[in-house]
Amino acid sequence: MTQSLNGKIILISGASAGIGRATAITLAQQGARIIALGRREDALEALRDALPAGMVRILAGDLNDDAYLQRVQALAPEVDVFVNNAGVLRYAPILDLSPEDCAWMFQTNVLAALKITQTIARAMVANKRGHIVFMSSIAAREVYRLASVYCATKHALSALARALRLELQGFGIKVTEVAPGMVDTDIRVGSDHPDVLASVANRKFKPLTAQEVADAVVYALQANPNCCPDLIELRPQGAF
Ligand SMILES: NC(=O)c1ccc[n+]([C@@H]2O[C@H](COP(=O)([O-])OP(=O)(O)OC[C@H]3O[C@@H](n4cnc5c(N)ncnc54)[C@H](OP(=O)(O)O)[C@@H]3O)[C@@H](O)[C@H]2O)c1
Repeated sequence: MTQSLNGKIILISGASAGIGRATAITLAQQGARIIALGRREDALEALRDALPAGMVRILAGDLNDDAYLQRVQALAPEVDVFVNNAGVLRYAPILDLSPEDCAWMFQTNVLAALKITQTIARAMVANKRGHIVFMSSIAAREVYRLASVYCATKHALSALARALRLELQGFGIKVTEVAPGMVDTDIRVGSDHPDVLASVANRKFKPLTAQEVADAVVYALQANPNCCPDLIELRPQGAF
C-alpha cells in the first residue's frame, strides 16, 4: 500500500530544467499540484504548458534574492512537499577554480538551499506535517577528481538534510536525501576545462536519466506514513 500523491501541493526548486523538470512532470502525472521555481520564466511557462491546465503554478526568480524568497514564503503554508533540487556546478582542477566559481557553488547549493528550506520547514512545523526531499549527489559521500568544491557543497547539503531530519521528525516531517551519480542533464555545460572535457569523453558508462531520478523521488513520497526513505543512492550501472 503506497500513499497517494493526488492533490498534494509540491514545491520544486530548479523545475525549469533537468531533474527538477522531469520530477515536476512525473509528480503531476500522479495527480500532484506543482509549484515550479527557477530563474528562467520561459522554461517554467513551457513546463506549465506541457501539463494539463491548473496542474502547475510557476514563480520565477533567483533563490539568492531575498525579495523573491518572500514571495515563496507566502506560498509555504499550503506546501505538502518540498523538493529542494536547484543546484549548480563547475568542474575544474582544484587549483584552477576561481574564487567566484567557488562562492557561486556554495552560495547556491548550500546557503540558498538552506534559506529556502528554513522558509518552507517553518510552515511545515506549524502544520505538523510535510516531506522535504534534498537532491544531493553521490558527490555528498564520495570525492572525485575535478569536482572538489562541488563535492564539498554536496557534503554540506547532506549534513543539513540529516540534521534537519533529526530536528523535525518529532513534528511529523520526513526528510529524504536522493543522491544520484551522473545524470544526463545540462548541468555540466559551463565546465569546459580541457581535463573535464577529456574525462567526460573517456567515461565508460551511460549516465542516469532525469526520469530515473524523478522515479526515485516518487518512490520516496509514496512511502507509507511510518516509513521514511532517508537516503536513496542511484548509480549508473557499471560506474565504478
Ligand atoms: N546532473 C547530474 O549529474 C546530477 C547528479 C547528482 C545530483 N545532481 C543535482 O541535481 C540537481 C538538479 O540538477 P540538474 O542536473 O537537473 O541540473 P540543471 O538541468 O542544470 O538544472 C538546474 C536547475 O537549478 C535551477 N537553478 C540554478 N541556480 C538557481 C538559482 N540561483 N535560483 C533559482 N534556480 C536555480 C535552474 O533553473 P534556472 O536556470 O532557470 O534558474 C535549473 O532549473 C542539482 O542540485 C544537482 O547538483 C545532478
